[in-house]
Amino acid sequence: MSDNDRAGRIRYQHLSQLEPNDEPQVPLLHRIARDIAEHCGHSLFKAHRLAWGWTVTEAVDAFHQMCRREHVKPRGLVARSWMDWEAGARPNWDYQDLLSRLFHTSPVQLGWAADYTPAEPPPSGRTRARPRTSALTGGTRGVLELVRSDVDRAPALLHLPPDTRDFTGWAEQVDEVVRLITAAAASSGTAPPIVSLSGQAGVGKTTLAIHVAHRIGDEFPDGQLYANLRGADTPGQDPAEVLAGFLRELGVAGTDIPEGIDERARMYRAHLAGQRVLVVLDNAADEAQVRPLLPGSPGCAVLVTSRSRMAALAGSAAVPLGLMSPGQAAGLLTAIIGTTRAQAEPDALAEITQLCGHLPLALRIAGARLVSRPAWKIAWFAARLRDESRRLDLLRAGDLEVRASFALSYQSRDETEKLAFRMLGLLGADFPAWNLAALLGTDVDDAEQLLEQLVDAVLVDIAGVDATGLIRYRLHELLRDFAMECLAEAELPDLPQQSLARLADEYTGAVRLASALVHPGAPDNPAKPEDQLLAADVVRGDPWDWFMAERANLIALVTQLHTRWLPCAASATPTATRGVSPRPSTCSRPRLPSSGQIPTPVR
Ligand SMILES: Nc1ncnc2c1ncn2[C@@H]1O[C@H](COP(=O)(O)OP(=O)(O)O)[C@@H](O)[C@H]1O
Ligand SMILES: [Mg+2]
Repeated sequence: MSDNDRAGRIRYQHLSQLEPNDEPQVPLLHRIARDIAEHCGHSLFKAHRLAWGWTVTEAVDAFHQMCRREHVKPRGLVARSWMDWEAGARPNWDYQDLLSRLFHTSPVQLGWAADYTPAEPPPSGRTRARPRTSALTGGTRGVLELVRSDVDRAPALLHLPPDTRDFTGWAEQVDEVVRLITAAAASSGTAPPIVSLSGQAGVGKTTLAIHVAHRIGDEFPDGQLYANLRGADTPGQDPAEVLAGFLRELGVAGTDIPEGIDERARMYRAHLAGQRVLVVLDNAADEAQVRPLLPGSPGCAVLVTSRSRMAALAGSAAVPLGLMSPGQAAGLLTAIIGTTRAQAEPDALAEITQLCGHLPLALRIAGARLVSRPAWKIAWFAARLRDESRRLDLLRAGDLEVRASFALSYQSRDETEKLAFRMLGLLGADFPAWNLAALLGTDVDDAEQLLEQLVDAVLVDIAGVDATGLIRYRLHELLRDFAMECLAEAELPDLPQQSLARLADEYTGAVRLASALVHPGAPDNPAKPEDQLLAADVVRGDPWDWFMAERANLIALVTQLHTRWLPCAASATPTATRGVSPRPSTCSRPRLPSSGQIPTPVR
């Protein structure tokens, strides 16, 4: 009987002790290997192969599969080297380590290094989160499965910035992003899931993307790639450069990285093929910057953040981030300054969250300033923040600055958009597109087009649709402070004055028209021919609804005219509004709220 036959017999004797459906466990295979080595005179290394029941070719194949899984490239391992090692040659340290992992043992147990110390275990939490397979599933395939699933190691790519320790809020959005990525990853689709987070500067897109990426890190055992595409800067990162960076992180030597973006993208996709990597593309400018960076493998996933929506990114799911709710904003500020201090002055805390417009960046800065000044009363800081001309100066801490963050969005717009944005600082409440047309002296179509561009740039929000069916827009309070600053810097006072005068004329005319329609026969004194009014059609459609929708804006306009620019126009506008005040005897409509209560025009 040959040694191999004898080894086969030993293996058979052990395995025949198992119940019919039981699979051999690793400890049993180790025992078989020791018996084979002892009774057949084989090297421990060869005894292990025989215990596993592999031919040399199968063993080499299993080894290569494990290496692919582990992203190591053992050069030159062929059946010949394997047989040399079985015959007593000693592999180098790297091979000793890998071959031991194949058999779930150590180089000492394979008869090689007496002074072997295993490599540092990976830090907890960063190990591959596959379940340990306790039983072999039978034959060579079963052992391979176990080898694949049982290797604990740090993923090759760990490029995420750290998570935010006091991450607060966004529970729904976090769950939604996690669901979108993990559901797609578990499906049998052929494209990688792409989720894009959009929202204005400072709303927390980057923070949320990184938080989610850490949370689902275990779903991507091959690691994460992260790049800040600097899309708000001009110019942003060249995707060809980003690809070069990714390729280097994937182990490609600088000299092997091709010149052209298409070749780089091809190489990048080839490297990610068959892998489970999460790619985080932060601060993207537009779809064109993102496209070359998309992996092709369905096991990967992509998380994009950008100020504007990535509407043209085929197959992507959009998760827009609005502002935090008052409760979430208070929770964030409390997490930053500590519960004791927050609970001591709850009203002042609420006022600060409101003055920060519930914007996380502003809250972070306000919180940081309070933390660095333990002696400050929250109420005192709130009182200082109340002054809108100083607010943006106060919202600055370390390298964080609300103004600088807004400036990035503003600077990247063209001159007409910038002028439109500055003018919008003159409006106090939400407004329809014709307000901008009046301020700029353009027609409503042009104003609508500009507003859509500013909405895409997340400098302007859509507030909703008013009772007359018009879309209403608004500026975040801090963005309005910023727009006012830019206006004061960029324009001489007469331009805003002329703009406001045009808007006041439009409103006065529109109010008079509404008044004449509501109270036919009342004395009328049109300031402007009816047909030239920008809002004529809407007013004629339903003068009451129009007035209800515009009431808050009229109050804001009068305040603006009074305090800053044009006292004459200021007195004309409320005089005109008197004509549409309800008179119970002639009017069946419900009463308007008293002047302090501003109706919400948005439905
Ligand atoms: N959910 C949150 N929890 C804690 N801090 C947050 C949160 N969202 C944003 N922040 C803080 O707000 C600031 C701006 O967030 P960031 O993610 O950079 O905004 P964006 O990427 O939208 O411009 C950061 O300093 C961050 O620490
Ligand atoms: Mg960001």
